[in-house]
Amino acid sequence: MSHSDRPRFLFVSCQVGAEKAVKDEIAGRWPDFRFAYSRPGFLTFKLPEQQFLAPDFSLGSVFARTYGFSLGKATGVDPAAAADEVWRLLADRPVDRIHVWERDRAEPGQYGFEPAVTPTAVAAYEAFRAKCPQPERLAAGNHLIEVANPGDWIADCVLVEPGQWWVGYHKARSAPSRLAGGILHLDVPPDAVSRAWQKMEEALTWSRLPAESGARFAEIGSSPGGASQCLLARGFEVIGIDPAEMDVTLLKHPKFRHIRRRAAQVPRRAFRKVRWLTADMNVAPNFTLDAIEAIVAHPEVNIRGMILTLKLPEWSLAAEVPKYLDRIRSWGFNRLHARQLAHNRREICVAALQKPFLRKPLSS
Ligand SMILES: C[S@@+](CC[C@H](N)C(=O)[O-])C[C@H]1O[C@@H](n2cnc3c(N)ncnc32)[C@H](O)[C@@H]1O
Repeated sequence: MSHSDRPRFLFVSCQVGAEKAVKDEIAGRWPDFRFAYSRPGFLTFKLPEQQFLAPDFSLGSVFARTYGFSLGKATGVDPAAAADEVWRLLADRPVDRIHVWERDRAEPGQYGFEPAVTPTAVAAYEAFRAKCPQPERLAAGNHLIEVANPGDWIADCVLVEPGQWWVGYHKARSAPSRLAGGILHLDVPPDAVSRAWQKMEEALTWSRLPAESGARFAEIGSSPGGASQCLLARGFEVIGIDPAEMDVTLLKHPKFRHIRRRAAQVPRRAFRKVRWLTADMNVAPNFTLDAIEAIVAHPEVNIRGMILTLKLPEWSLAAEVPKYLDRIRSWGFNRLHARQLAHNRREICVAALQKPFLRKPLSS
């Protein structure tokens, strides 16, 4: 087999429960892709004969955590034998890095589950790497936690079931395509006061908001404080707005101020020096958007960029995401990116920027 063969299938990794949202997005944007197979958190689609897709093409999906061309599956409980089969499927394709990950077992945050590099994925990666026919070509370092370079050829291996490795490939381009399984490796500090620390760290890395150290953020829905903690650790000042209590760690921080009120009760002058807004309120998306619009549309407020968490209490709200994005765009935020982050629960993250402010480069 030659690597110039046209890819016939696409694989997509997503959060458990997001499969229908992925299918609906693909049916809308790529009507010629035919759904082929799914397990919770993993789907494949048959690609149309006539369509050329570059190996770094953008799927344009909010709910796909990562994706690539699928070459089929290798089976076997012995990792060394399965690894031989994986390399046979990859044939003579160029490979700079190997990304191996396990399909999610639960929704992030449920039963303590967080998407991460698992011991099973590490064992499969080691077996896979050890059998590489051209080891001199592989990048040095640990491919499971390091960020690939744009243009790197990635061999993908998704552990869908025990002894069932789905094999594929893609060319790295976007930030998630440069991470194994689209999952950012995080060293969570032991004193993180909530899961929101992980969400904010991932959101800042993915969105690359060009906020300078010392910039002032307002965080709407800041209690108990993981997200504010993360912003403070990056050198920002934070005003936390929430009627609920903040963790004492935050209250003691000199760069943190708590306004213990609902967003609508905060005087607009409190936002005068605020250029960056984040929101993570446990209410339906339209309520979050109402609260944000009342702030950003005020003539005395000048917000350059935002990171908004939009909760989806029902999966059916996934179909409304384009309308939510149109609404945010209508406030003058013309650079918009939306993604279900690996550490998001049933919610999505929207990064919004006013055009003159360019995103930061992603460090390798
Ligand atoms: C998911 S928690 C936020 C987690 C938080 N970002 C952290 O870092 O730990 C949602 C919060 O939204 C707050 N909230 C709900 N409605 C609000 C409103 N209208 N204004 C401000 N906060 C609100 C709730 O009190 C709750 O603390």
